[in-house]
Amino acid sequence: MNLLLDEVAVAASRLAEAGVESPRTDAELIAAHVHGVSRGALHTVPDAAFDPRYWDDVARRASREPLQHITGRAFFRYLELEVGPGVFVPRQETEVMTGWAIDALGEMDVAEPVVADLGTGSGAIALAIAQEVPGARVHAVEADPLARQWAERNIARCAEAAPHTAGRIVLHSGDFAGALADLDGTVDLVITNPPYIPVGSWVPPEVGEYDPATALWAGRDGLDAIRVVERVARRLLRAGGLVAVEHGAPQGGAVYWVFAEEHGWRGTRNHTDLSGRDRFVTAEWQDDRT
Ligand SMILES: C[S@@+](CC[C@H](N)C(=O)[O-])C[C@H]1O[C@@H](n2cnc3c(N)ncnc32)[C@H](O)[C@@H]1O
Repeated sequence: MNLLLDEVAVAASRLAEAGVESPRTDAELIAAHVHGVSRGALHTVPDAAFDPRYWDDVARRASREPLQHITGRAFFRYLELEVGPGVFVPRQETEVMTGWAIDALGEMDVAEPVVADLGTGSGAIALAIAQEVPGARVHAVEADPLARQWAERNIARCAEAAPHTAGRIVLHSGDFAGALADLDGTVDLVITNPPYIPVGSWVPPEVGEYDPATALWAGRDGLDAIRVVERVARRLLRAGGLVAVEHGAPQGGAVYWVFAEEHGWRGTRNHTDLSGRDRFVTAEWQDDRT
């Protein structure tokens, strides 16, 4: 053992007492961040190099500030994104839906598929698609000016780190309800992780106090934004185009029926996340009623 690992063990029990869900992991990741090493190299930090500022960051986490706000970084698929106050921290669940979309775009046999990411936040979904789907053109829509600043920053950073993404993401400001009218009937895939929490639900402090309210709440049943997304997707998609919509675990049945056949959808499917809970719905726009 070395001093840092001793301190990490104490920090982990403090975080556990504070109700943090993954106390040991967070204690280690904060230590790695403060000491500028990878988590796997914590044991190599000499005792003399222990930085007491570690305890400031542990105190922030114990007050339930999200780990990603403390480190300033969130990892999403193959991306390292900048996050902080004013933007929703991208989640693992959304990686699964984004992976589904990336596979679906690969199977489409369209050289330069057009994608709309509604409510882009940090830009996570849009950037992952631009990075992993060669030729994709991604239109990312965001209403919240603060969130948009984070997306702008991440799009610029990603263009430096992965130059093949440069110029393939267009960030649009405004409400997605009326967005991208010039693309009506031409989009290959609409994807979104919209707000979907029913107003009045309990959420952990990391969410309620730090994720922006515009990213979370969506009316009494949590489906207000998803109903808007269904109408927007109907307008944007070409015949045969696909939609992927994330939702809360208990909402799978309700969201399935939002993308009903009588509205022009076919192949509507529920999908689960890595813990096996309903997490997103996909459907194909058939548009054979026009
Ligand atoms: C749950 S967050 C998802 C952010 C990002 N796509 C992700 O998965 O990490 C939802 C985002 O949608 C944005 N948003 C909510 N309602 C919107 C609307 N009507 N028009 C445009 N953006 C909206 C919020 O500001 C927020 O950034």
